[in-house]
Amino acid sequence: MRDAQPCTIFLSDYRVPEFLIDSTTLKFELGETNSIVRSVLELRRNPESDSQDAPLQLHGTELELVSLSIDGRELAPSEWSQSGEQLSIAKVPAAFSLSCETRLRPQDNTSLEGLYKSSGMFCTQCEAEGFRKITYYLDRPDVMSVFTVEIVADQSRYPVLLSNGNLVATEILADGFHKTVWQDPFPKPAYLFALVAGKLSVVEDQFITSSGRGVDLKIYVEEKDLDKCDHAMLSLKNAMRWDEEVYGREYDLDIFNIVAVDDFNMGAMENKSLNIFNTSCVLAKPETTTDAGFQRVEGVVAHEYFHNWSGNRVTCRDWFQLSLKEGFTVFRDAEFSSDMGSPTVKRVEDVTLLRTAQFAEDAGPMAHPIRPDSFIEISNFYTVTVYEKGAEVVRMIHTLLGPELFRKGSDLYFERHDGQAVTCEDFVLAMEDASGIDLRQFRNWYSQAGTPRLEVSGSYDKRAQTYTLAVKQSCPPTPGQTEKAPFHIPLAVALIGDAGQLPLQLADAEINTESADNTELVLSVSQPEQQFVFNNIKEEPVPSLLRGFSAPVKLDFDYSRDQLLRLMRSDSDGFCRWDASQQLGLAEIKRAISALAAGQNVSPDAEYINACRELLADTSLDAAMVALMLQLPSEAYLAEIIHPVDVQGIHQAREALRKVLAQALKGELSACYSRCESDEAYAANAEQIARRSLKNTALAYLMLLEEEQFIALAIQQFESSANMTDRLAALTYIVNSESEYKAKALQRFYQQWQHEPLVINQWFQVQAMCRLAGTLETVQGLMSHPAFDIRNPNKVRALIGAFCGQNGVNFHREDGAGYRFLADQVLVLNRSNPQIASRLLVPLTKWRKYLPAAQQLMRAELQRVLAEPELSSDVYEVVSKSLQ
Ligand code: ARG
Ligand code: ZN
Repeated sequence: MRDAQPCTIFLSDYRVPEFLIDSTTLKFELGETNSIVRSVLELRRNPESDSQDAPLQLHGTELELVSLSIDGRELAPSEWSQSGEQLSIAKVPAAFSLSCETRLRPQDNTSLEGLYKSSGMFCTQCEAEGFRKITYYLDRPDVMSVFTVEIVADQSRYPVLLSNGNLVATEILADGFHKTVWQDPFPKPAYLFALVAGKLSVVEDQFITSSGRGVDLKIYVEEKDLDKCDHAMLSLKNAMRWDEEVYGREYDLDIFNIVAVDDFNMGAMENKSLNIFNTSCVLAKPETTTDAGFQRVEGVVAHEYFHNWSGNRVTCRDWFQLSLKEGFTVFRDAEFSSDMGSPTVKRVEDVTLLRTAQFAEDAGPMAHPIRPDSFIEISNFYTVTVYEKGAEVVRMIHTLLGPELFRKGSDLYFERHDGQAVTCEDFVLAMEDASGIDLRQFRNWYSQAGTPRLEVSGSYDKRAQTYTLAVKQSCPPTPGQTEKAPFHIPLAVALIGDAGQLPLQLADAEINTESADNTELVLSVSQPEQQFVFNNIKEEPVPSLLRGFSAPVKLDFDYSRDQLLRLMRSDSDGFCRWDASQQLGLAEIKRAISALAAGQNVSPDAEYINACRELLADTSLDAAMVALMLQLPSEAYLAEIIHPVDVQGIHQAREALRKVLAQALKGELSACYSRCESDEAYAANAEQIARRSLKNTALAYLMLLEEEQFIALAIQQFESSANMTDRLAALTYIVNSESEYKAKALQRFYQQWQHEPLVINQWFQVQAMCRLAGTLETVQGLMSHPAFDIRNPNKVRALIGAFCGQNGVNFHREDGAGYRFLADQVLVLNRSNPQIASRLLVPLTKWRKYLPAAQQLMRAELQRVLAEPELSSDVYEVVSKSLQ
């Protein structure tokens, strides 16, 4: 809880640290009622600081201070003072050794930050500012130190004792205790510290690095989960190889450990050589894990591994630079996943996340640049903007430089800054220096929030044989930024003629472009208004714009239906092809909304239905792409496009349209379903994942018809599938139908999987996301189910998070009961786990985009939260900013 008025921290106030820590020794005595931490810090004044007589100020939160001494002399209470999170010692020598003893109660730490217990195991989460809950320290990423860590604990309860770096000693002590000592040779900030103690089983493997060193790979899990580690291990080895091949980065220690814990606020954490994972991001086997789950494990394992270079060897100077490591690492893991699976599908999925969650964030009250310039609580800035938009910004640099120069830039960045804590500016500068490409204007992406809009129009001059693209850019105001300078936007384009892409020749050769071949160009859009003229264009083309989603912008072009159909049928760029299908779907949904409002039937355009029919029949197409193109734009995406958002109206129109499509395409959908059925052994490869995705997309449509034969098909799939992807899909459709089998299916599923928490979370989620009326009551009922536990973030996300964030129609019930429910839960979680509470609150903060009646109800709930006297800084920041 907040004990002072929450204060805002500004990037512009950054000062180098007044002290440095040359070495850190930590001795942990882990106990059932108390845990003791004894630290010895070798401190000295930072020669680069301009205040050489400043007091020593250390961070510490919720700590019980037992003793404090300098160079062996214990300090009297009068020699130090405490205020808020700061401990000040006024008179200290230029260099000295500070010893400190603190007492903690990890078993009572429900915030899951600092040292805490999860399923009987001790573990830590220190990023961003959790280390200060362990001992007094300079808890900022630009203070880097080598660590030696000694852990003492009961050997029978905690046979495994881990920390960062190398194991240098083990010892059996009296009374059933034992001790291990770890040394990490790489200086690191405190946020990368980790400790684990528990009863853990291990899966082991080895990796030989490109220079021939052996690395021991270990994944520590509870014994019952030993059969769910293969996929993570394979993903880890693939990631290690990929980083050597694509970035020339080799692993730097002899051990790499991963530990799985049940209670974790985020996905995983890249602590040096001791990654700690949410079980949901490491465990996988076909019977319990969906295809999406397998892909998530692969992506997160790679992400955390890649941080060893982009984050650990080169880290952030301060937390405003978070995207330096997160944006870059997300870009790296996306490219890795793309190489391991289907590149277009990965791109479409990432763009979908960006265009829903990130665009919504950029348009909401918490909008911030990928490098924010102020914050109250840094935990609130682990956002889709910093991560996913940050990755798009790195991707644009990659596009502007091309792969070779980008690699030169990343080599220079790692070489120049190895062992340092640096800024986004240092990253851009390395890219500029290595490539010679001017990124001055490009830097606006780091400092300006909001989603730029590109308004593009095309005109063909038959006589001159030229085609002109006129591009206008703008960016809406965001909190604290009313005026925006123009961005430097890479706009990838092609012009499509009757027989395919036309060769491109720009009239103004001065214009800076990158050309993949001569039929695709990356236009450098940099002015508020600009024209690009293409010469020797012999027919009126259809422009294919923003190919590969070359920039995180909203693009408007007034396509005719025929042009979109042409792009959907034949664009060689997978993203644009898919996007054309979505624009057609969007137009049909808008028509359906008007039709329903006028009391008419929904009747989609025949050409659109035909195009869908062709997709279903064309077996030469990638099944995953067909599945994606057949899915109409999601309600979350529609809420970004149609203003004000009438949640019920959008839902009804979209569902009505889906039903009409299902009826019209019934034969093709059924044939497609049969074609995709297969009894081969499960593998999480692109080809099988594609087939399952198309099969389940077809089944989802067919289930809308509420016909006996299709319900029987779903029941059969539910009962006989051996993999969770197909079982869960069938369960989802059954739960959303009127079938009487519903209750039985849910009960059978629960019975079978009650001992697998990750599966039970999926069971909660399916029910929380049910579109039918009465779901709020179901969710409220499930809150007292014995398998639910509000202390476990995965369960909170599966039940409350899924209901409030992914079930628009029910969350936005017209009586406001959904809003009230969320505010109630936020107030409960505010006390136990502020990080989870403030994340959960996000759907309410978007109140301004809904109809007036909804706005009022949502705002009233936000005001009720704000009125709570003991708000955490996390919740306070989100709720107060959303009401401003
Ligand atoms: N660095 C971690 C990752 O992206 C996430 C840590 C999040 N911690 C937090 N307190 N929000 O891999
Ligand atoms: Zn990360």
